[in-house]
Amino acid sequence: MPRNQQILLDNRPEGEAQASNFKLVETDTPALADGQVLVRHHFMSLDPYMRGRMNESKSYAQPQPLGQVMQGGTVGEIVESRNPRFAVGEKVVGFGGWQQYSVVDANLPGVLRKVDTSQVPLSHYLGAVGMPGVTAWYGLVKLIAPKAGETLVVSAASGAVGSAFGALGKARGCRVVGIAGGPDKCAYVRDELGFDDCIDYKVHSDVKSLSAALKTACPQGIDGYFENVGGMVLDAVLLRTNAFARIALCGMIAGYDGAPLPLANPSLLLINRIRLEGFIVSEHMEVWPEALAELGGLVASGKLRPRESIAQGLAAAPEAFLGLLKGRNFGKQLVQLA
Ligand SMILES: NC(=O)c1ccc[n+]([C@@H]2O[C@H](COP(=O)([O-])OP(=O)(O)OC[C@H]3O[C@@H](n4cnc5c(N)ncnc54)[C@H](OP(=O)(O)O)[C@@H]3O)[C@@H](O)[C@H]2O)c1
Repeated sequence: MPRNQQILLDNRPEGEAQASNFKLVETDTPALADGQVLVRHHFMSLDPYMRGRMNESKSYAQPQPLGQVMQGGTVGEIVESRNPRFAVGEKVVGFGGWQQYSVVDANLPGVLRKVDTSQVPLSHYLGAVGMPGVTAWYGLVKLIAPKAGETLVVSAASGAVGSAFGALGKARGCRVVGIAGGPDKCAYVRDELGFDDCIDYKVHSDVKSLSAALKTACPQGIDGYFENVGGMVLDAVLLRTNAFARIALCGMIAGYDGAPLPLANPSLLLINRIRLEGFIVSEHMEVWPEALAELGGLVASGKLRPRESIAQGLAAAPEAFLGLLKGRNFGKQLVQLA
């Protein structure tokens, strides 16, 4: 059996997460029992939610246990099988964690899903045609439920979730405006992802300025907002919402490392009779097949061209993860392992 490199959570962050919170170790992969398979990971996913799980505090999910392999999504290939449903060479998506190999009891429902790489590259099953894509789909279709012609806004627009949101919104005949950090990300959002406009929040240092830019980009006001960031961006969007706007509260990454996220004008929620709903995509498994089918079609037809930031090798994962929390990624952040 091959040797396996793993990254463990060694200690919990105090304030900002640090590379020293993680530890790289090497172990043997255990021999397989009946029903198990050995998966060699080709890519692993780095996601903002992992920051929350590094804390001990109570949340919708259990904290990442100390001294154990960092949890996370992976795509790879079966390299050994003692399960008749999975053959060596098949490509699978699973939750193998920050390590080169995982031993999986493939009889457990939902732990491994075979994927077809003839139309969609393997890595996209961790992004546009995976959990982040379904997240965008759920917030758009089930919470915002837009009508054609309405104006939608999404923050962190160039990222894994935001880019999928744009393609899904355009497919429903909406005006879609992104908010992203920096001219390169905004150019990609407009020119390659096909958003109607994109605002660089980094050139707007206060709510008034960002809200004025939103007024220009959204002349009919904002009917639906998909929130990934929180803080000043949410304040600026609220000022431009129409009556009966819907907000899908997906993430608040500006606060994940401990920064406070005060809301300047909560009364706008009442004045504009806004419906705001938080959600966790893993609690809505019933929509995944429909969402993945649409997202796979958008990627296969070139209507969604997801970008990826790929760090090389397991040892690069901690720095790449810290970079994701600072916006240094450009598109879906992955680590390539093999
Ligand atoms: N509720 C759910 O079930 C669920 C599931 C998946 C993801 N999410 C959430 O969805 C959001 C996007 O996730 P993703 O995987 O698509 O990540 P991503 O957008 O690919 O990467 C994160 C991006 O967030 C932006 N960002 C980071 N710090 C920021 C700050 N202080 N202020 C403003 N923007 C900041 C950066 O883009 P810029 O350079 O443009 O600022 C960065 O590239 C996250 O909040 C995540 O927690 C929620």
